[in-house]
Amino acid sequence: MSGEGTPRRPALGVCYYPEHWPEERWATDAAMMREAGITVVRIGEFAWSRLEPAPGDLRLDWLRRAIETLEAAGLEIVLGTPTACPPKWLVDRSPDMLAVDREGRPRGFGARRHYCFSHPGYRDESARIVTVLAKAFGKHPALVAWQVDNEYGCHDTVLSYSAAARDGFRAWCAARYGTIDALNRAWGNVFWSMEYRAFDEIELPNLTVTEANPAQELAFRRYASEAVVVFNRRQVEIIRRLSPGRDVLHNFMGGFTDFDHFALSTDLDVATWDSYPLGHLERELRDEGRQRRYLRVGDPDFQAFHHDLYRACGRGRWWVMEQQPGAVNWAPHNPAPAPGAIRLWAQEAFAAGAEVVSFFRWRQAPFGQEQMHEALLLPDGRPNESYEVAASLCRELAALGPPGPPVPAEVALAFDYESAWAWEIQPQGRGFRYLDLCLGFYRALRRLGLAVDIVPARAEAVDGYRLVLLPGLFAEDPALAAALADGDQRVLLGPRSGSKTGEFQIPEVLPPGAFRSLIPLTVLRVESLPPFERLGIAGRGPASHFTLWREFVVAEAGVEVVDRTADGGIALAARGRAAYLAGLPSPAYALEIVERLARDAGLAPRRLPEGIRVRDLGPLRYVFNYGAAAQDVSDLLAGHDPVVGEAHLEPCGVVIGARKVQDA
Ligand code: GAL
Repeated sequence: MSGEGTPRRPALGVCYYPEHWPEERWATDAAMMREAGITVVRIGEFAWSRLEPAPGDLRLDWLRRAIETLEAAGLEIVLGTPTACPPKWLVDRSPDMLAVDREGRPRGFGARRHYCFSHPGYRDESARIVTVLAKAFGKHPALVAWQVDNEYGCHDTVLSYSAAARDGFRAWCAARYGTIDALNRAWGNVFWSMEYRAFDEIELPNLTVTEANPAQELAFRRYASEAVVVFNRRQVEIIRRLSPGRDVLHNFMGGFTDFDHFALSTDLDVATWDSYPLGHLERELRDEGRQRRYLRVGDPDFQAFHHDLYRACGRGRWWVMEQQPGAVNWAPHNPAPAPGAIRLWAQEAFAAGAEVVSFFRWRQAPFGQEQMHEALLLPDGRPNESYEVAASLCRELAALGPPGPPVPAEVALAFDYESAWAWEIQPQGRGFRYLDLCLGFYRALRRLGLAVDIVPARAEAVDGYRLVLLPGLFAEDPALAAALADGDQRVLLGPRSGSKTGEFQIPEVLPPGAFRSLIPLTVLRVESLPPFERLGIAGRGPASHFTLWREFVVAEAGVEVVDRTADGGIALAARGRAAYLAGLPSPAYALEIVERLARDAGLAPRRLPEGIRVRDLGPLRYVFNYGAAAQDVSDLLAGHDPVVGEAHLEPCGVVIGARKVQDA
């Protein structure tokens, strides 16, 4: 946590692989980057086999020359540590460093991310190569940042069921629980005679005949998440020592919750993420209508959610490290972005406070796994369409000048990685997904034009907001409940909030456990429903209903029943500043609930037209059109003078208005 790096003004970057191209080409590439206005370039993150082709045979000269070439063109460099791709000789030397999948099969060599985070030998090897690089390049004047590894957990690699993971997990359990009796009690191991007599008897929760004990699964997920944090921290410490003053960052992913990103980010200066709006659309969204509507522009809220999430992880400092520049290669189908979409994505990121938006990648590779992935340059080295888009975006950013300070949000949505694991372990109804639940509320807030901070679900993080949403927060948390009871925020709990203890048992007082101090009601029973079943909300119209999940709630005196289900149960209950929602709301119902709560909290929600979204940054108001039709957004620009674009907003359009001076 050095924080020594200084926040930079909005810049465009690019991901570049000098090792893929003849050295004579590098200067041309660097000159073309500069000509477009690109100022940041990330290199090196998959280059281990070229940096060390055989054990101890270090070949750093080519990388030094590449850095010098980029530096000569005035580019700032982000150097990746190459640990996502351990080379063949290393794997052959220690085959037990390979991660092992849930089926007990070692991951094969021949792609990337094949290592196990728990393997002590691989941790040492990573530390060794990072030390070599940090010594060689750490103080290079063109080096502004380090990217540690690449996309931790990509390709489903956080959980490894190796011998190293088993040993690490046993030690972790001993440290957490102290005695084996305490562990047996915490996990409820008396059930099905699962009791252990010693920590070294503990097995990993895979290959069991039927589901493993959820408490043990959760413990293993906690252990695995910490293993990623420990792996990362080792590299960060080396870099901090040998390369002072440079930002240390990592590129996280979208729709990915397999380790605690808040925990890992405490070791970083900047959180970054890789934004592939069209790739994510088909992979992450269940709703086919929405997929069709936003096929070439991406979901209006998915990227935005991650911008806000990673801004929180980076404690205000964040980048888009990889931005889709055209069709990608890895989604089930890979449409091309609509004209204007690439600019729209980049501007929304900058409006959310991104310091850098960097494209993946510079030039399309004619070889290897990603040869169908578009880039700013065509495979033959000529500019692709997106090169021109990047160049004109650079001109637009230069004309806008440095951004003002972020406008504080008044709504917080708590996001909790352990809750994502808990509901993956025990969905109870197929399709119940924590991220979708949170995204549903986030969409409603965005649709109402409200700025949202995504915060960790901790007492100290919810302070100062007018409205706090804690949907699906799995574990009761007395400290958080007390902070909210003492505060003056409006609070929305449920469904499933506080329905377990931290050790994955049902609280003695029944759900919502400790949160009963905010609203005295009890969830007696729950049911999950197949997708065709809709449970209507009385008096709210056909679009408002619960799907998939509903709870049978009894409320104590003083609790007001705000809404009932069509069959007479409690749908939404409130007391004072707290409300409890007893089911999974349809989008229309989520919108109604959030609108009502926001009004009660003294905010001014207004329903934006389909596809229109708004952000404020300093004195600037950005309005985006993700929809298929042109829209007049003059009303949203009231009190602002357009500085980019105009109030008649075409599809994929962006208009930016500056607050009029008398209103400032
Ligand atoms: C990211 C990854 C890149 C590249 C890209 C393709 O997940 O970090 O290395 O694979 O996706 O879209």
